[in-house]
Amino acid sequence: MKKIVCDNYDEMCRAAADQYVEQLKQKPNSVLGLATGSTPIGLYDELVKRNGEGKIDFSRAHAFNLDEYHPIKQNHPQSYKTFMDEHLFNKVKFASTRIPNGEATDPEAECDKYNADLEAAGGLDLLLLGIGTNGHIGFNEPAVSYPLDSYLVKLSADTLESNSRFFTDGEEQPTTALTMGIGQILAARKILLMISGAGKAEISKKLFEGKLHTDVPACFLLLHPNVTLIIDKAANGD
Ligand code: F6R
Repeated sequence: MKKIVCDNYDEMCRAAADQYVEQLKQKPNSVLGLATGSTPIGLYDELVKRNGEGKIDFSRAHAFNLDEYHPIKQNHPQSYKTFMDEHLFNKVKFASTRIPNGEATDPEAECDKYNADLEAAGGLDLLLLGIGTNGHIGFNEPAVSYPLDSYLVKLSADTLESNSRFFTDGEEQPTTALTMGIGQILAARKILLMISGAGKAEISKKLFEGKLHTDVPACFLLLHPNVTLIIDKAANGD
């Protein structure tokens, strides 16, 4: 795992944006795996800015998001579809975008379709990941065993608690989600992991031990040959 330690979050976002500039220069029709949550917001802002300045072009790139709550209306304010539209897809032109459908009546069939769509696109060239305080990647929660392809997952108490900040009183928070599986994550040709803030220092330490803690899903990334970690000093424990 290549590690880039940045002074602060803004520097992290610029460093991560540089990776996208390089990726799309090498392969304009890249298949990009994208994440939601607080961590990528500054990166998406930076990509929108650079796109406006003509420094990066996504018009031949294909986006596949990691996960989505289920069940949730696509236009729900807290759906990941809404998040991606607001932060990126309404502002930057992609060749295509794909997010697991939180409205699917048959979630297993939706996962099968997602797997097939991702495979037909040729798999992920560059996958962006954040990490949960419990070590989850995508919505792969700490478990005894991990599905390889997309699946319907029951969210852990930790994740429900930490994501409750996005849901206002009276808004029902889904307790299950559709997520890419660990196999699909590890099949990405390159992975960019962003970790920011003192709240992530403890889980980062687990990752840095260099051991395969099987109850910390992010540790599976230690098995991947091409991971770049962009982390700020606070999360790095400096
Ligand atoms: C989001 C996702 C999650 C988040 C993780 C960190 O699509 O897959 O794994 O990356 O929960 O979230 P933040 O960035 O809000 O701390």
